[in-house]
Amino acid sequence: MSHLNQSGNGRLHEYQVQLTFFGAEPIQLRCREDEDIISAGLRQGLLLASDCRQGICGACLGFLEEGQSTLLKYSPYVLSDRDKEDGWVLTCRLRPKSDLRLDFEYSADRVAYLEHWQNASDVTLRGKP
Ligand code: FES
Repeated sequence: MSHLNQSGNGRLHEYQVQLTFFGAEPIQLRCREDEDIISAGLRQGLLLASDCRQGICGACLGFLEEGQSTLLKYSPYVLSDRDKEDGWVLTCRLRPKSDLRLDFEYSADRVAYLEHWQNASDVTLRGKP
């Protein structure tokens, strides 16, 4: 865990998140305590599978192998209580409370890396290097 900065109400922390995909080496992300995994990926040029980003489609489904987290509001039609108890999470609604290890059932080929992210009109996608 690394210290990020201080606010009036306390400290914001940044956690290490390890992402694993089918048939690929793990990818490391840094995720602040006030952001979700999909947003953290975008901030660092990584486009993970997602769609609605509101917890209603299930496109961002992952499995929490290790760590503490909070799930923001989501649809129970997408993630049942039983699935959640088993460890399934919606990464667009997931905020870390510790370092995390997440597993995705899709191939690393579906992960895109964003280039030229500073200018949204100049975003290009390329395959994994
Ligand atoms: S992107 Fe739709 S539930 Fe996460």
